[in-house]
Amino acid sequence: MNKIVVLSGAGISAESGIPTFRGSGGLWEGHDIREVASPEGWRSNPQLVLDFYNKRRKNAREVKPNPGHLALVELEQHFDVQIITQNIDNLHEQAGSQNILHLHGELFKSQSTADPNLVYEIDGWELNWGDTCERGSQLRPHIVWFGEMVPMIEPAMEMSSQADVFIVVGTSLEVYPAAGLIEYVPPLAEIYIVDPGTPRLSPSRNIEFISEKASVGLPLLVEKLTKNNS
Ligand code: APR
Repeated sequence: MNKIVVLSGAGISAESGIPTFRGSGGLWEGHDIREVASPEGWRSNPQLVLDFYNKRRKNAREVKPNPGHLALVELEQHFDVQIITQNIDNLHEQAGSQNILHLHGELFKSQSTADPNLVYEIDGWELNWGDTCERGSQLRPHIVWFGEMVPMIEPAMEMSSQADVFIVVGTSLEVYPAAGLIEYVPPLAEIYIVDPGTPRLSPSRNIEFISEKASVGLPLLVEKLTKNNS
């Protein structure tokens, strides 16, 4: 069975009601990203960081997957599908996709400030100052912040290197190392980009663009791939 690897970004969740990062009125809500998404920001004002992600979490509990997420579930009926997402929401899970790797962490999980391997589900939407891990250390959001290592990048590179078809959806490809995954895709693989905007791109690849929103472009692409496969 052909292997399809999907790299998704904020754009796939936009139509579910989660704003993208770099669009107007972006997700940072007027905060300097260093304030709310870096180890320095956490050290200088952890309450601001906790509040920022609590708000994100509260909002994310109210949103539902859109036809873009659902099309990727449909794709699994026909292909071996692996999703690599930069998104911290759980909309791929809610939709029912099976194989999801979160490159930048997960909004509904916390991690110990003493040991990043101690990871916990967050019940509800609040993570508070004073919430501690089993070793008594403060918990922080389980998010890969700017300036931090991306622990899941190695498996993501390996997955990308196995792709027969690579689909990029809803990402500006501005942030590395995620944006570099396209370089690991084998030369003979097909690459599709579903995005109404113009992501930054490596000129070296032959790429088919579908200039549509995810909710329109992904169902079209899934139909095309399954038709070609039958
Ligand atoms: N359908 C598909 N794509 C869309 C849609 C839509 N409905 N709406 C917007 N887009 C596209 C935009 O054209 C843009 O190319 O989604 C992309 C969103 O880009 P960014 O806001 O930069 O989000 P992303 O690429 O996911 O950001 C990468 O940067 O801020 C960090 O860690 C954060 O994971 C994030 C990473």
